[in-house]
Amino acid sequence: MAIRNVRKEGDPILRKRSKEVSEINERIQILLDDMIETMDEEDGVGLAAPQVGVLKRVIVIRIGDELIQLINPEIIYENGEQTDIEGCLSVPGISMNVTRPLTVKVKGIDRNGKEVEYEGSDLLARAFCHEVDHLNGILFIDKGISESE
Ligand code: NI
Repeated sequence: MAIRNVRKEGDPILRKRSKEVSEINERIQILLDDMIETMDEEDGVGLAAPQVGVLKRVIVIRIGDELIQLINPEIIYENGEQTDIEGCLSVPGISMNVTRPLTVKVKGIDRNGKEVEYEGSDLLARAFCHEVDHLNGILFIDKGISESE
Protein backbone atom coordinates (compact mmCIF):
# COMPACT_ATOMS: atom_id res chain seq x y z
CA MET A 1 0.00 0.00 0.00
CA ALA A 2 1.07 3.57 -0.50
CA ILE A 3 -0.03 6.98 0.58
CA ARG A 4 -1.03 9.07 -2.43
CA ASN A 5 -0.86 12.82 -2.80
CA VAL A 6 -4.24 14.51 -2.11
CA ARG A 7 -5.17 17.01 -4.83
CA LYS A 8 -6.20 20.42 -3.57
CA GLU A 9 -8.87 22.85 -4.73
CA GLY A 10 -7.70 24.63 -7.87
CA ASP A 11 -6.48 21.36 -9.41
CA PRO A 12 -8.68 20.93 -12.52
CA ILE A 13 -8.96 17.16 -11.95
CA LEU A 14 -11.29 17.85 -8.99
CA ARG A 15 -13.75 19.48 -11.39
CA LYS A 16 -14.00 16.61 -13.86
CA ARG A 17 -16.54 13.81 -14.02
CA SER A 18 -15.07 10.45 -13.09
CA LYS A 19 -15.67 7.41 -15.28
CA GLU A 20 -17.51 4.23 -14.36
CA VAL A 21 -15.30 1.26 -13.54
CA SER A 22 -16.03 -1.51 -16.05
CA GLU A 23 -13.79 -4.24 -14.63
CA ILE A 24 -12.74 -5.07 -11.09
CA ASN A 25 -9.06 -5.97 -11.28
CA GLU A 26 -5.94 -5.76 -9.16
CA ARG A 27 -5.36 -2.13 -10.16
CA ILE A 28 -8.71 -1.13 -8.68
CA GLN A 29 -8.00 -3.11 -5.51
CA ILE A 30 -4.60 -1.40 -5.13
CA LEU A 31 -6.31 1.96 -5.70
CA LEU A 32 -8.79 1.11 -2.90
CA ASP A 33 -5.97 0.05 -0.56
CA ASP A 34 -4.04 3.25 -1.26
CA MET A 35 -7.15 5.40 -0.82
CA ILE A 36 -7.86 3.78 2.57
CA GLU A 37 -4.27 4.32 3.69
CA THR A 38 -4.33 7.95 2.50
CA MET A 39 -7.70 8.66 4.16
CA ASP A 40 -6.52 7.17 7.46
CA GLU A 41 -3.18 8.99 7.34
CA GLU A 42 -4.97 12.31 6.78
CA ASP A 43 -7.67 11.58 9.39
CA GLY A 44 -10.44 11.91 6.82
CA VAL A 45 -13.95 10.48 7.02
CA GLY A 46 -13.96 9.68 3.32
CA LEU A 47 -12.02 9.95 0.08
CA ALA A 48 -12.95 9.82 -3.61
CA ALA A 49 -10.56 8.62 -6.34
CA PRO A 50 -10.30 12.00 -8.14
CA GLN A 51 -8.83 13.39 -4.91
CA VAL A 52 -5.80 11.19 -5.55
CA GLY A 53 -5.77 12.08 -9.24
CA VAL A 54 -7.68 9.07 -10.59
CA LEU A 55 -10.87 9.83 -12.54
CA LYS A 56 -12.68 6.63 -11.62
CA ARG A 57 -15.94 6.20 -9.72
CA VAL A 58 -14.42 4.79 -6.52
CA ILE A 59 -14.99 6.00 -2.93
CA VAL A 60 -13.96 4.95 0.56
CA ILE A 61 -15.55 6.00 3.86
CA ARG A 62 -14.51 5.22 7.41
CA ILE A 63 -16.86 6.14 10.25
CA GLY A 64 -16.14 4.55 13.59
CA ASP A 65 -15.67 0.83 13.06
CA GLU A 66 -17.29 0.83 9.66
CA LEU A 67 -15.11 0.87 6.52
CA ILE A 68 -16.95 1.18 3.21
CA GLN A 69 -15.26 0.62 -0.16
CA LEU A 70 -17.58 1.30 -3.04
CA ILE A 71 -17.16 1.23 -6.81
CA ASN A 72 -19.65 2.95 -9.13
CA PRO A 73 -21.73 4.26 -6.20
CA GLU A 74 -25.20 5.49 -7.03
CA ILE A 75 -27.61 7.21 -4.64
CA ILE A 76 -30.91 5.45 -5.25
CA TYR A 77 -33.02 6.95 -2.45
CA GLU A 78 -32.86 10.01 -0.25
CA ASN A 79 -35.11 11.26 2.52
CA GLY A 80 -35.22 14.16 4.95
CA GLU A 81 -32.75 16.97 5.44
CA GLN A 82 -29.85 17.85 7.73
CA THR A 83 -27.56 20.86 7.91
CA ASP A 84 -24.16 20.50 9.53
CA ILE A 85 -20.51 21.47 9.27
CA GLU A 86 -18.50 19.81 6.53
CA GLY A 87 -14.88 19.83 5.48
CA CYS A 88 -12.76 18.13 2.85
CA LEU A 89 -9.13 16.97 2.59
CA SER A 90 -8.96 18.77 -0.78
CA VAL A 91 -10.06 22.08 0.75
CA PRO A 92 -7.86 22.38 3.84
CA GLY A 93 -8.69 24.89 6.53
CA ILE A 94 -12.27 25.54 5.40
CA SER A 95 -15.46 24.26 6.97
CA MET A 96 -18.98 25.27 6.00
CA ASN A 97 -22.55 24.31 6.75
CA VAL A 98 -24.00 22.10 4.03
CA THR A 99 -27.56 20.84 3.75
CA ARG A 100 -27.78 17.16 2.82
CA PRO A 101 -30.40 14.41 2.92
CA LEU A 102 -30.84 12.88 6.38
CA THR A 103 -30.94 9.34 4.99
CA VAL A 104 -29.73 7.84 1.73
CA LYS A 105 -29.57 4.44 0.12
CA VAL A 106 -26.57 3.79 -2.07
CA LYS A 107 -25.85 0.90 -4.37
CA GLY A 108 -22.58 -0.05 -5.98
CA ILE A 109 -20.00 -2.80 -6.34
CA ASP A 110 -17.59 -3.95 -3.64
CA ARG A 111 -13.89 -4.74 -4.14
CA ASN A 112 -14.72 -8.31 -5.16
CA GLY A 113 -17.19 -7.29 -7.84
CA LYS A 114 -20.28 -8.10 -5.80
CA GLU A 115 -23.31 -5.78 -5.93
CA VAL A 116 -23.92 -4.17 -2.54
CA GLU A 117 -26.38 -1.71 -1.05
CA TYR A 118 -25.99 0.55 1.99
CA GLU A 119 -28.44 2.65 3.95
CA GLY A 120 -26.97 5.49 5.96
CA SER A 121 -28.22 8.37 8.08
CA ASP A 122 -26.65 11.42 9.67
CA LEU A 123 -22.86 11.52 9.15
CA LEU A 124 -22.85 8.43 6.92
CA ALA A 125 -25.51 9.92 4.61
CA ARG A 126 -23.51 13.16 4.51
CA ALA A 127 -20.31 11.26 3.65
CA PHE A 128 -21.98 9.31 0.83
CA CYS A 129 -23.34 12.53 -0.71
CA HIS A 130 -20.02 14.39 -0.30
CA GLU A 131 -17.98 11.58 -1.92
CA VAL A 132 -20.44 10.98 -4.79
CA ASP A 133 -20.34 14.75 -5.45
CA HIS A 134 -16.55 14.45 -5.89
CA LEU A 135 -17.15 11.91 -8.70
CA ASN A 136 -19.21 14.56 -10.48
CA GLY A 137 -16.68 17.36 -10.02
CA ILE A 138 -18.63 19.01 -7.21
CA LEU A 139 -16.98 20.29 -4.00
CA PHE A 140 -18.80 21.01 -0.72
CA ILE A 141 -17.87 24.70 -0.98
CA ASP A 142 -20.19 24.88 -4.02
CA LYS A 143 -23.13 24.07 -1.73
CA GLY A 144 -21.94 25.50 1.59
CA ILE A 145 -23.28 28.33 3.65
CA SER A 146 -20.64 30.17 5.66
CA GLU A 147 -20.66 29.41 9.38
CA SER A 148 -21.47 32.97 10.40
CA GLU A 149 -24.71 33.13 8.36
NI1 NI B 1 -14.07 15.84 0.06
